[in-house]
Amino acid sequence: MKYTWVMFACILLVSSCQSIKTTQKANLTEPAQPEFLISGIVLDVTNTPIAGAVVRIRATEKFTMTDKDGEFTLTDLQPGKPVFLTAWAEGYFIGGGDEKIVVGSTGIEIILEKIKDSDNPAYQWVSAFAEAGSDLNCENCHAEVDKQILSMPFTEWSNDAHSASAQNIRFLTMYLGQDIQGNQSPQREYAINRDYGRIPILPDLTKPYFGPGYKLDFPETAGNCSACHVPVAAINAPYDTDPTTATGVGVEGVACDFCHKVWDIRLDPMTGLPQHNMPGVLSFEFRRPDKNRQFFAGPFDDVPLGDDTYTPIQQQSQFCAPCHFGSFWNTQIYNSYGEWLESSYSDPVTGKTCQDCHMPVGENDHFAGLDKGGVIRDPRKIFSHLMPGASNIDLLQNAVTMTASAKIETDKLIVDVQITNDKTGHHVPTDSPLRQMILLVNVADENGQPINMLDGETVPEWGGVGDPNLGYYASLPGKGFAKILSELWTELEPTGSYWNPTRVVGDNRIAANESNRSMYIFSVPLDGKARIKVSLLFRRAFKELADQKGWVVPDILMEQQILNIER
Ligand code: HEC
Ligand code: HEC
Ligand code: HEC
Ligand code: HEC
Ligand code: HEC
Repeated sequence: MKYTWVMFACILLVSSCQSIKTTQKANLTEPAQPEFLISGIVLDVTNTPIAGAVVRIRATEKFTMTDKDGEFTLTDLQPGKPVFLTAWAEGYFIGGGDEKIVVGSTGIEIILEKIKDSDNPAYQWVSAFAEAGSDLNCENCHAEVDKQILSMPFTEWSNDAHSASAQNIRFLTMYLGQDIQGNQSPQREYAINRDYGRIPILPDLTKPYFGPGYKLDFPETAGNCSACHVPVAAINAPYDTDPTTATGVGVEGVACDFCHKVWDIRLDPMTGLPQHNMPGVLSFEFRRPDKNRQFFAGPFDDVPLGDDTYTPIQQQSQFCAPCHFGSFWNTQIYNSYGEWLESSYSDPVTGKTCQDCHMPVGENDHFAGLDKGGVIRDPRKIFSHLMPGASNIDLLQNAVTMTASAKIETDKLIVDVQITNDKTGHHVPTDSPLRQMILLVNVADENGQPINMLDGETVPEWGGVGDPNLGYYASLPGKGFAKILSELWTELEPTGSYWNPTRVVGDNRIAANESNRSMYIFSVPLDGKARIKVSLLFRRAFKELADQKGWVVPDILMEQQILNIER
């Protein structure tokens, strides 16, 4: 009995509190209760008020904006509670947060320091690794392997392809024209054409050949590869940085300090795409600080450590555009950004950003060690740095939906396969034109003996000519999905040497929200029983190229369906 009374009193209390709130909102002339408030002003270092600054109780959703006089009032707070207040305005470092402020305080002053409006090319990059011996190394605070927490930015980045981009053996062997043992193909040879002058000719495959290479075709220049693959090294010399000469933080590939020094992205306002011939570092605007100063841009406006600021670009797909879009000799080579932009995923309301899919939230409730100044935050605001891609089985098994069906019509067994790109925000496969999907439709009788296909597509030659048990699938029932480049003059196709002029001779990759349907007709086994296995594989590089280079990367099974049919 007593218990019910207490409950009742609580309900009364809550409803009366709520009514106070509503009358307060309705009657604007009545001053808000001071014990529920914090008020004050945001100023710059010259004591000029800053309008439009975000004032927030650190690591909460409770915030307000300063008015035209730089003044703010945070309302509906818990009386007497000490809180940390932070402030941020566009073009300023995040400020405040030095001491706890008790709810009920007025006249609070938060001073913001302006970010210098220029970039310092002489900046010395900070290594991510603690072993580099500086207090600033990200690993010192953004890793907690000792506490068995693997979802911190440093640990995730170390396991992501971005951290290894300068050392990726496939990239380097492609650049140098070598195989993974270091054997090098001969330099490119040329013929004289009456009309066009010097033209490249096909390599002589009767001599040892270890695949193409930028350096075989352009021994005198460094190329633009580093502008995306080795950006720290290339930033001050985008067209003149040989990736194999990178040292120091340059070797850290797409490094932490690099991504968090980005101030803005320069895109063509007409197309929304990076400008022509401005790959990687050329399309970013940086804010590298002067000596003895730091600068970190991130997605939070309440990190009051002095050197941090919020930039909205970090949460937009545009951030990824300079490196995930690139043309060579006017042929579009990399284009995950352009494909995304053209798809419904780029709708600002109903769409999804690159970060939404490749940096999913929710793994952790802090991103800096709690003994290093980190605070507990809402996990839905903390983004993963794993950035899964071409080697992530989970991602690839959640990229498309495949449905296969089979029926027997008199003496024909018909297999119908539909592949829908329903979960990927761009084409599948995307970006590197070395990637493929291979569909295999295998029909066997009760004893496992393969049944001949009467009509239907087959895997193209680039699926590999040889033993199917070793992954050479050319001419088997099925299909290949890829963007096929043909090298001008030599007509070598598919080619991966897109540093030479190439043209796209075929592209049947599946765009976002699109489907591909294919049919295969087989004869019917004598006893009318058949087992149908439909498999969709992801392959990182064309078989012949992988063999020349010695790259060993197993195919990833994206989808598979097994059907048993009986007449
Ligand atoms: C390829 C660029 C890139 C690299 C490399 C990178 N970051 Fe980030 N980082 C981002 C982006 C983009 C976000 C924001 C994502 C969002 O808000 O949608 C982010 C967010 C963060 C945040 C805020 C907390 C969170 O995880 O959301 C921290 C801290 C951070 N990064 C630190 C690091 C550190 C430390 C490294 C290296 C160990 C690193 N980053 C490497 C792009 C990068
Ligand atoms: C516009 C930026 C950009 C430029 C310029 C660029 N790349 Fe890439 N490259 C990328 C991106 C992004 C990926 C990853 C794409 C993916 O995973 O599909 C990549 C992937 C690759 C891969 C595949 C690596 C693997 O592990 O499968 C190779 C090889 C490669 N690039 C070679 C080169 C060479 C050689 C050059 C210079 C001639 C070059 N790239 C220039 C952005 C670029
Ligand atoms: C001495 C410890 C320490 C080191 C070293 C450190 N950070 Fe941080 N960093 C922090 C703390 C603490 C936060 C804020 C945590 C919070 O508020 O939850 C932070 C926040 C950030 C943010 C988010 C900024 C924002 O406003 O969104 C980024 C980005 C970042 N760090 C990048 C880096 C990078 C890159 C490095 C290495 C070059 C690095 N940090 C080194 C302690 C450190
Ligand atoms: C709706 C989710 C989604 C969005 C949005 C999305 N991706 Fe992806 N991404 C995927 C999936 C699933 C895959 C694996 C299938 C594939 O390779 O196409 C993938 C693969 C990739 C790969 C690896 C390709 C390879 O073969 O190595 C890169 C690079 C990539 N995405 C970059 C981006 C960029 C850049 C953006 C934004 C412009 C973006 N993605 C937006 C889901 C998404
Ligand atoms: C400075 C250039 C640069 C920026 C900025 C950049 N990337 Fe990348 N990204 C690369 C390169 C280079 C690779 C290829 C690395 C490799 O495989 O060696 C890559 C690879 C990837 C992959 C494939 C990873 C894998 O395991 O195969 C994904 C996914 C990806 N990037 C997504 C993103 C997203 C999302 C953003 C924006 C938040 C982004 N990238 C920003 C250069 C960049």
